[in-house]
Amino acid sequence: MLRSHTCGELNKTHLGGKVTLCGWVNSMRDHGGVTFFDIRDRYGITQAVCSPEDSADIFEEIKQLRSEWVVRVEGIVSERPAETVNLRIQTGEIEVRVQNLKIMNPSLPLPFELSEAGKTDEILKLKYRYIDIRSPRLNGNLRKRALFSHKVREFLIKENFTDVETPVLTKSTPEGARDFIVPSRLNPGNFYALPQSPQLFKQLLMIGGIDRYFQIAKCFRDEDLRADRQPEFTQIDMEMSFVEEDDVIAVTERMLKYAIEEAFGLEISIPFPRITYDESVSKYGSDTPDMRIPFEYRDLTDIFKNTGIKILKEIIEKRGIIKGFAVAEGGSISLKDIENIDKLVREAGGGGLGWIRFRTDEIQSPFKKLLDAETINKLKPDGKSGNSILFFLGGKPKPVRENLNMIKKAVAGKAFKPQAGIFKFTWVTDFPLFEYDEAEKRLQAVHHPFTSPREEDIPKFKTGPSGMKSRAYDIVLNGIEIGGGSIRINSRQIQEEVFKTIGVEKKVYLERFGFLLEALEYGAPPHGGIAMGLDRLIMLLAGEDSIRDTIAFPKTQKGACPLTNAPGSVEESLLKENKIRVDIPKTE
Ligand code: AMO
Repeated sequence: MLRSHTCGELNKTHLGGKVTLCGWVNSMRDHGGVTFFDIRDRYGITQAVCSPEDSADIFEEIKQLRSEWVVRVEGIVSERPAETVNLRIQTGEIEVRVQNLKIMNPSLPLPFELSEAGKTDEILKLKYRYIDIRSPRLNGNLRKRALFSHKVREFLIKENFTDVETPVLTKSTPEGARDFIVPSRLNPGNFYALPQSPQLFKQLLMIGGIDRYFQIAKCFRDEDLRADRQPEFTQIDMEMSFVEEDDVIAVTERMLKYAIEEAFGLEISIPFPRITYDESVSKYGSDTPDMRIPFEYRDLTDIFKNTGIKILKEIIEKRGIIKGFAVAEGGSISLKDIENIDKLVREAGGGGLGWIRFRTDEIQSPFKKLLDAETINKLKPDGKSGNSILFFLGGKPKPVRENLNMIKKAVAGKAFKPQAGIFKFTWVTDFPLFEYDEAEKRLQAVHHPFTSPREEDIPKFKTGPSGMKSRAYDIVLNGIEIGGGSIRINSRQIQEEVFKTIGVEKKVYLERFGFLLEALEYGAPPHGGIAMGLDRLIMLLAGEDSIRDTIAFPKTQKGACPLTNAPGSVEESLLKENKIRVDIPKTE
C-alpha cells in the first residue's frame, strides 16, 4: 500500500503514530531552520514539517519541492504548537514530522493557480480541465453529483423501476433540436442519429411489459448552447405503465425529496405547488416561473379604459392590453433607475414605461394629474404600501409580456435579490398541445409529438387543434426548467393525427416512425413518464451558474472541447470507407 491514511484524516487520536501520506504539494513555507509544506488530496490537507535536526538530507531535499509535485511522505504524527493550531480544518491540530520523502512525480508550473481558478479564462481552464478538477469546488460538485445519482438509483430500484440501457446509435428522436449524426460504414449513405432522448425506446419498453423503467441516460442535441445547455447532457429518464399525471408527479416528488435530502442535506417539502400554463404565462410572463421573485403581473386594461390617459385609451381601442406589476418594497428604486428602465423598454421597441409610486398619502407618477382618487385606489397594490411602485406597459400581449419580463429582471436585480439556498419547485401543467411556428407557418408540438392530448380535446383535431391541451407537465426550479414529461399517446390513430396536424407527410412519418406506429397496435398499455435534467439540477443545488461546473469534461459555447480538440478532422481513409466527401475548403 502506498499510503496508510488520507490527507484529511489525521487528528490528535493519531499522535505518535507512524503514517504514510500521498498527495500534491499544496504550499511551502520556509521558516528559517524549519520547512513546512502542505500535502493535499481529495480528502483534505495535512501539514508536514522538517528541520535539519529531523534529517539534514530530507531537509535539503524538501527545498526542491514545488507546488503540485506528487509526493509520498512518511513520518510521525505530532501535536502542533498552540499558536499554529487551525481548527477550521480536520487535521488542524496535528502535523507530520517527516522521516522519509519520495518525490513520485514533479509537475510543470501550473498554467493557472488553483486558488485563482475563478478568475482564469474559461478556455484555458477547459484545456487543463484535469487541473481545474483538483479545485475543491469542481471536485466537490462531481462528488455531489455522483452521490445524488446513486441516491436516485437507490430510490428508483426500491420503487420497482428497472434500469434499462437504450441505444446510442439510433434513429432520430425529435425533442426540438437538430440531430447529431454518425455515418454507417456498412450502409454507405446512411446515418445513425444520436438520441436527443430515449423517448421512443422507453415507450417501447412499456409495450414490452417492463412496467417501470429508468435510466440515467446521455442525450445529444445539436442546438445553440447557453449556460444551462450542453450538446451532450444527462437525464434521469423514467417511464411507467398504467399511470396518470398524478402518479408520475408523485413518484418524481418523492424521488427528488429523497435524493436531495440524502445528497445535499437540504430539507425539501412535498408536494410541490402546481400552476397551469395559462396562469403562469399570465402572472409571471413565462412557463418557467421563478417563484422566488414576488412580482405578479396584473391586467390593468379595465382600470385604464375609463381614465383620461389618451395614449393608453388608444392602445386599448386597438385591442391592446395594459399590464403591470407592483414592487412592494420599491424604496431603493430611484427616478434615475426608472428613467433607465424606460430607456430599456423604448430600445426594445416598446412605447415607454408607465409607473406610479404610492406614498402613504400621495402618489408620484407622470400620469398624476390624469388619475382620480377612485382609479388610484383600484391601482394601489394590495397590502402594505408606503413605498410601493407599480410599473405598467401597454400594447399587444406578446411584446407587453416580453418587456415586462425585461423590467422584472432589471427590477429584481435592484429591489429584490433572491437569497442563495432557497429552492422553489413548481409544476407547470395544462400546456397547449400545439403552438404556431411563425417561421415554418405551421403548428408544432409544444412538447414532443408523442404527448397525449386531453381526452376531451380529441374532437378538436378536426375543429381547431390550436386550442387543444396536452397531458404534459414540466417541473421548474427557481425559474429554470429541470424536467418535463407527459402521458403518452398509446393509439396509432391519434399518433397519426398528431403527425398530420404538425404537417408531417404520411410517407415521411411512416419512414421515420413506422416502427412506433406498428408497436402501438400490439397492445400498448397507457403509459407516461418524465425526464429530469441531471446537470441542471446539480447546478442549481450546488449553487452554480453554469452546468459546465457540474460536468467533468464539458464543451465550450461552440461545442468544442479545448482539452482533446474535439471536434477534429478524420483520416482521409476513414472518410473514403464511409463514402463521405467533405465540401469545405481546407484552411491553411
Ligand atoms: P425535455 O426535452 O424537456 O424532455 O428534456 C428534459 C430535461 O432535460 C434537460 N435538458 C437539457 N439539459 C442540458 N442541456 C441541454 N441541451 C438540455 N436539453 C434538455 C432539461 C429538460 O427539462 N423525452 C422527454 C421527456 C419525457 O417526455 O419523458 C424530454 O427529453 O432540464
